[in-house]
Amino acid sequence: MCGIIACAGVRRASEILYKGLCDLEYRGYDSAGISVRREDGIVTVKRAGRVSAIECARRLGGDAGIGHTRWATHGAPTDANAHPHNFGGFSVVHNGIIENYAQLKAELAARGDEFLSQTDSEVVAHLLAKYYRGDLKEAVIRTVRRLKGAFALCILHEEFGGFAAVKYRSPVIAGYGSGCFAASDMPALSGLADRVAVLKDGQIAFAGENGFTFCDFDGNAVSLTFSPLPPQLRSGGKAGFPHYMIKEINEIPAAIRQTAAAFEAEGCARAFAKLRRKKFSQVIVCGCGTAYHAALAAAYGGEELLGVPVRAETAGEYRYRRRRKLSGTLFVAVSQSGETADTVEAARAAKAAGARVIAVTNVPYSALTSVADVVVPVRAGAEICVAATKSYCGQCAALGLTFCALAGGRHYGRAKRALAEAAAMCADAISGCAAEDAARACASASAVYFIGRGADYPSALEGSLKLKEVSYIPGEGYPAGELKHGPIALIDGGTLTVAVITDPALAEKTASAVEQVCARGGRAAVVCAEGCETAGLRGRAEYFIAIPRSELFPAIVAAVPLQLIAYRTAVILGRDPDKPRNLAKSVTVE
Ligand code: F6R
Repeated sequence: MCGIIACAGVRRASEILYKGLCDLEYRGYDSAGISVRREDGIVTVKRAGRVSAIECARRLGGDAGIGHTRWATHGAPTDANAHPHNFGGFSVVHNGIIENYAQLKAELAARGDEFLSQTDSEVVAHLLAKYYRGDLKEAVIRTVRRLKGAFALCILHEEFGGFAAVKYRSPVIAGYGSGCFAASDMPALSGLADRVAVLKDGQIAFAGENGFTFCDFDGNAVSLTFSPLPPQLRSGGKAGFPHYMIKEINEIPAAIRQTAAAFEAEGCARAFAKLRRKKFSQVIVCGCGTAYHAALAAAYGGEELLGVPVRAETAGEYRYRRRRKLSGTLFVAVSQSGETADTVEAARAAKAAGARVIAVTNVPYSALTSVADVVVPVRAGAEICVAATKSYCGQCAALGLTFCALAGGRHYGRAKRALAEAAAMCADAISGCAAEDAARACASASAVYFIGRGADYPSALEGSLKLKEVSYIPGEGYPAGELKHGPIALIDGGTLTVAVITDPALAEKTASAVEQVCARGGRAAVVCAEGCETAGLRGRAEYFIAIPRSELFPAIVAAVPLQLIAYRTAVILGRDPDKPRNLAKSVTVE
């Protein structure tokens, strides 16, 4: 949720940290801060607000330092609650949650420590100071052994020329370049480090004059292998687009093609052919938010294809559900970041119950991959906009390939061809989509409802989520048939209903829901695939957006106009589509 970064053995640490925080800002943008170590000691600048609020910190200099961009969990976004937290010669930044912080705080306060913030993180600086007797390693180990929860930490001490970084259930990547670096994710290291190593849970890195040394929480030395930073994880900036969101929508065709190529290159089809022979009796597809919608879209076609029950679940619900043994179950966990706490824990729970776990993720080194028996790559590239766009289409592509490879026979070849076509259709839809008028109607609506039947229902949910999160206009996604069972009471002249119609067999049904909306004075827009237009539909709906029809991947092609409508609505309303309020890209807390 938060982004952390550290550097050592560099000149002008503050410049490096500031730029790194700009790259990490999508992980949280409630406050930001930097500490650097200079000859005159540790100097800290931190403020509530976006990273630009600490622009002045660029001039701090220093040869080592740490930085933080925050998504508030404990304590409001204020200057005092911003990281780094300093105490007793230590400066600390933290990503995660210290679950036993209240107990630790009471213990430290009883010995006279005063706290300046409401955060859970501040106790870490106090514990370090308590345990420091001239040996940094000892102080760090004694401290981390007291912590419960999830924590990625970067630590600076006034007597140590480098930094320490700790990893437990929140990510830390170490990097070598023109110095030593550590950060929450790889895109933030691009341009700084050419070789990277991913720390495992329970590992600590010390970056000093001679490079990195690593140990575990018992103090035993461990060695990590550094390898080149994967090119797909470098963030290429906005490349001339006004926002990351529209840049990333334009990258959908590439995300689909690269995902299909990686599926082939990484031998996924062979892995699934083996799995098929082992037989399975059910498939559960699981994720949160947009990833859940991709799971639901896959589940719609999956059952017929695989001949066994296939269902989609939200990870936050699934992980706490009482469950039977899951031997014979394939559990497919879907996550762009591979870090979402609920999804990772749901996968762990399924695995513990005997399921085979497949991870579908855009981040190859993420926590989710370490739980999985098989990893299916999504190759959408670094996604910086907080709202998921190209990664959703990449997830739908990867899930479709997975199910078709599991089904065997001619299905996999058919899926590959259909995906190549879907990528081309998305490119056409991006360049030819008439989203502007519908976006204007959304921008002036009191609420926007999205409806769809069958495989278009997940698209309705996703269209609604996308619009809500970037425009803040209230609304819902409904199965078209449910409208008349209650939600139709909400329809009036101020509302807009967007119907998604991509299945000719169900087109009449959804079209009649549009009629019902219009009969009550509601306004309607239709996203309609070729061959799905019913008589009179174009006349009833105020806005008609025609898209090409993909039989196997309707959700991928429908996503394009829905994402464009959300993007344009946000821009019309003057919202920042890349950094919607209250959100962060990776939800690593429950
Ligand atoms: C919506 C969005 C979120 C994420 C969700 C899961 O645009 O981005 O709903 O889809 O937080 O994130 P991942 O896929 O990283 O597990």
